[in-house]
Amino acid sequence: MTDPTSRAYAEQLDATDALASYRGRFEIPDDSVIYLDGNSLGRLPAATADRVAQVVHGQWGDRLIRSWGEGWMDLPLQVGDRLGAALLGARPGETLVCDTVTVNAFKALHAALDLRPGRSTIVAHRGEFPTDRYVASEVARQRGGSVRWIGPMDPGATQVEPVSAGEVAGALNDDVGVVLLSVVDYRSAAIADVAGITRAAHAIGALVIWDCSHAAGSIPLDLPALDADLAIGCSYKYLNGGPGAPAWIWANETHHDEMRNPIPGWMGHSDVFAMGPEYSPAAGIRRFMTGTPSAVALAMVDCGVALLAEAGMGAVRAKGQQLTAYAVDLHGSWLEEYGVTLASPRDPERRGAHVTLAHPDSLALVQALSDRGVIPDFRHPDGIRLGLAPLTTRFTDVFDGLNALRTLLCALA
Ligand SMILES: Cc1ncc(COP(=O)(O)O)c(C=O)c1O
Repeated sequence: MTDPTSRAYAEQLDATDALASYRGRFEIPDDSVIYLDGNSLGRLPAATADRVAQVVHGQWGDRLIRSWGEGWMDLPLQVGDRLGAALLGARPGETLVCDTVTVNAFKALHAALDLRPGRSTIVAHRGEFPTDRYVASEVARQRGGSVRWIGPMDPGATQVEPVSAGEVAGALNDDVGVVLLSVVDYRSAAIADVAGITRAAHAIGALVIWDCSHAAGSIPLDLPALDADLAIGCSYKYLNGGPGAPAWIWANETHHDEMRNPIPGWMGHSDVFAMGPEYSPAAGIRRFMTGTPSAVALAMVDCGVALLAEAGMGAVRAKGQQLTAYAVDLHGSWLEEYGVTLASPRDPERRGAHVTLAHPDSLALVQALSDRGVIPDFRHPDGIRLGLAPLTTRFTDVFDGLNALRTLLCALA
């Protein structure tokens, strides 16, 4: 079967998919829903409900306050270590699951500037996810510095080309303390030149914070091998941690002793229950804790991470590339003629696990698709974002979803 526009072709890809069985490890009450938004909210792992019941009934209900000493206190680091090892190439003690990406961006930016005294400029991208831009502006203001913006002047423009080392290098000078960028662009899925940008920043003495929200769980990362400094990301997308699940923060162990947390909460203290008059930071990554963590939410993140760890990021990446390549093929065969453009890199090596298609009527099209049981994402101003989470998305979902889009466009033409 060689015709990608026949459903039998997609069925054959599903039949030979090495990760096909993982779909059965998730709760999927309605198999007819074509879910193409696993990069906004990942599906619910089947193991999560039992694990939550165990934490709620067995630990909270039965063991009450004793549960903090019986494991809850260690969860942010333990789940962090499992997440870091499976997805970030992290060494033990480098990853902490806590807070939100927004809060972790704030902590990481201040910590990075503290590590580079005398420098107050932050380099960031105009097309970056809003929260990162807002936090970068505020941190710069608090420190009497500024943000040097790179990328297209039009903030609505989707950067389809990956951010290059040259683009960043052009904005660097010896006042720049830190660069904040996404590994995978939230709109186009373009993968930045992480190694080249990190090298360029280090060459002038600056640090880099990588936002891995769309990268962790979709592409393999090896942050220590890249000599990265700090990284942040969420757990509700490809990690299947659940709505509002805590985010994570990673720091290269070489920075641990000097790092400061700008929100010096009691949970990041070296002796949490000493209740001392002064703040003294815990050793290592734990100092990035702020307040009391959610034991239930941490257990949920653990269940999602366990599935990715078992599947292996090599296999996840291979399927992600295959799924997005199939979507790009079908776009060329079916959708281009209706004025739909590809707003993601064509080269599978340069894009993550989502594909964005652009069309002036995207908002109405996404609504019409949703009415037909096909759920992609609308991304301002004109993007239809197809999140193809490798553990749960079938090739037939790509076929059926894009076929539904084609039918809608055909009716409009
Ligand atoms: C790239 C990126 N950064 C940051 C965030 C914000 O995360 P949070 O809501 O956990 O602060 C998101 C959310 O989708 C994101 O995609």
